[in-house]
Amino acid sequence: MTSAKVKPEDFDWNDLGFAYHELPYRYRAYYKDGKWSAGALETSATIPVHEAATGLHYGQQIFEGLKAYRRPDGGVNLFRPDMNAARLNRSAKRLMMAEFPEEQFVEALKQVVQANADFIPPYGSGATLYLRPFMIGQGPVVGVHPASEYVFTIFATPVGAYYKGGLTPTAYVTNEYDRAAHGGTGQAKAGGNYAASMLPGHEAHKAGYSDVVYLDPRLHEFIEELGSANFFGITKDGQFKTPKSPSILPSVTKYSLLALAEEFGMQPEETAISINDLDEFAEAGAMGTAAVISPVGSITHNGDKHVFYSETEVGPQTQKLYDRLVSIQFGEQEGPEGWTVDV
Ligand code: PLP
Ligand code: COI
Repeated sequence: MTSAKVKPEDFDWNDLGFAYHELPYRYRAYYKDGKWSAGALETSATIPVHEAATGLHYGQQIFEGLKAYRRPDGGVNLFRPDMNAARLNRSAKRLMMAEFPEEQFVEALKQVVQANADFIPPYGSGATLYLRPFMIGQGPVVGVHPASEYVFTIFATPVGAYYKGGLTPTAYVTNEYDRAAHGGTGQAKAGGNYAASMLPGHEAHKAGYSDVVYLDPRLHEFIEELGSANFFGITKDGQFKTPKSPSILPSVTKYSLLALAEEFGMQPEETAISINDLDEFAEAGAMGTAAVISPVGSITHNGDKHVFYSETEVGPQTQKLYDRLVSIQFGEQEGPEGWTVDV
């Protein structure tokens, strides 16, 4: 396996995409005989995997995604890492994997950020250090049973905006595919959900859309989520609504925006949102760690294109939520108690 570690001077911090770069350090911990190893930083980007690992055959694999933000005072924030720790363990339960101690999860994130500190994009660039914790079931198992060994690891990579154009609205489309079943693994951040979304995503991109709007797997009527982000709409009278469904990922960004929308008096609500009722919304957006907030300019459903606020400009309510969220993440404004964690 080739190793191609990068140097800080290789980067143009103002022009980063969402890509993997091999940084010097990653964290690894190993689960064996019912317990986790102490965990340590390692330099190799490759992980030896047993040929009979459940992570390879049966998708016994889960992950997380969060970011480290360089503050104006030079310090570094994590944003609500406790929520990622808790979600990883909910995913682990669903896929019958070992749970990882939540305090150790946050400590491990700090170690990875500190060890790769030269690669945290500077304050003002808008870029961040993306952190990717994940866990795989290790072999040897060939029946469909949970593994007895696991590897937990966290790598980091500097990223800019996930959707090109940042706060520029983009176009989305529904199609006939589902990413997760009702009662399936949609609530878990399981690799298999993302494998299932690759073909629909590819077809949407080929047709000129930035991503798919998944509809509920039973009726194909209610909005679930977007390829890698949750959905929100802001009604004409200023209410913040987001889908409630058992088959979508419980997004940290969504729960944060539900709280911020409350601060703004937007009467936030998690509720069923029919694809046939898009007229009630003045603005719409995608929300997630990678997506942050990305305005949804239009949704095309059964060949009909519905335009929200504008196809070229962000709406005022979306902008307001974005500004507040991002200013908390970067430590410019005080957020609710415990949302930012100093590295
Ligand atoms: N939905 C899906 C399918 C995702 O992959 C993500 C990204 O993590 C989200 C929603 C947003 O979740 P979060 O805000 O926790 O990043
Ligand atoms: C994230 O927002 O962290 C995601 O997981 C999105 C993605 C690139 C799968």
